[in-house]
Amino acid sequence: MFETLKTRPADSILALMQMYKDDPRPSKIDLGVGVYKDATGLTPIMRAVKAAEHQLWEAQDTKVYTGLAGDPGFSDAMIQLVLGDAVPRDKVAAVATPGGTGAVRQAFELIRMARPEARVFVSDPTWPNHLSILSYLGMEAVNYRYFDEDTRAVDFEGMIADIKGAKAGDVVLLHGCCHNPTGANLNLAQWQAVVDVLLETGAVPMIDIAYQGFGDGLEEDAGPTRLVASSVPECLIAASCSKNFGIYRERTGLLIAVSQNSEARKLHQDTLAFLNRQNFSFPPDHGARLVTMILNDAALKADWMAELEEVRGSMLSLRSQLAGELQRLSGSDRFGFLAEHRGMFSRLGASPEKVVEMRETHGIYMVGDSRMNIAGLNAETVPVLAKAIIDAGV
Ligand code: LMR
Repeated sequence: MFETLKTRPADSILALMQMYKDDPRPSKIDLGVGVYKDATGLTPIMRAVKAAEHQLWEAQDTKVYTGLAGDPGFSDAMIQLVLGDAVPRDKVAAVATPGGTGAVRQAFELIRMARPEARVFVSDPTWPNHLSILSYLGMEAVNYRYFDEDTRAVDFEGMIADIKGAKAGDVVLLHGCCHNPTGANLNLAQWQAVVDVLLETGAVPMIDIAYQGFGDGLEEDAGPTRLVASSVPECLIAASCSKNFGIYRERTGLLIAVSQNSEARKLHQDTLAFLNRQNFSFPPDHGARLVTMILNDAALKADWMAELEEVRGSMLSLRSQLAGELQRLSGSDRFGFLAEHRGMFSRLGASPEKVVEMRETHGIYMVGDSRMNIAGLNAETVPVLAKAIIDAGV
């Protein structure tokens, strides 16, 4: 029966990971998948995670199931991290999910259950897997303008004009911080303007926040999500712990639904638990438990926050090194946007042909749309990349 299956196009990010692995050149530089790397190229286990794992190993005495929504302690700790006190708790439903992608998937399914005809407005560009999951679920995606290819900043007027086309019953998907793949973000005044459009149109926002703490700081990065969640009647938030806790393979995420009132919250909570049961039953617990332990222990939390700040600072420093080197080589400020962007990624603005040329000639691996993972650089490779960019005539 399975001969009817069709070969599917490979995910652009995961295919690039494999190409990089297969390249024998020792000088190759990996700016592909969104994984933090230190100056030696290692993705370390964060100190607080290691310490929590030790404690857990000593203290955990059962591996029995948690609940369909995961451990409520995890939801509480993460709701506090993401939303702070922006929304009364009796309006917030949440379930643990396998990673941020799991939260995105469950959110889309929830939307489809409630409104099969809903259109999901997505930034152009967005994380390719948003589009892939929407298409897999048979849901309609509508692009809104987001990235200005000339300035490499947000095309704010285009964005506002396009999201005004959303209607009540539609969803507008927003990146809470550190836009993936461009690195270009809205300021708070612009976020307020987005909120005004959402209130005007009645469209429901869904926020994907996968990089809290990688942009301007933990609290700062949560600001837009808190603004939206406290301003609109309903919203969905897909949060990931993969990057800011460095627990990628543990698959730790949370789907939050901000509801109109406590009665609606109960319906949301029950429906989200039902969706978990249909898809995978109980969500994974190990990563969620580590996150809960860290966020509830003052010493572990302080150490985690300090290390996250080191990670953020190192990416900011790489950004300014790269922008500086490109300024020196090009004699112009046209790469200044690299220092303005935030998070792990920047879209360079090179054509797909030039991306291939840089890969073949210099062993530089960036995603085909010229998304670069800034954390893939170090002090030695910044000048190599800068030279390759100038040589390629970007
Ligand atoms: C990325 O965008 O590179 C990450 O979110 C990893 C992934 O799953 O694509």
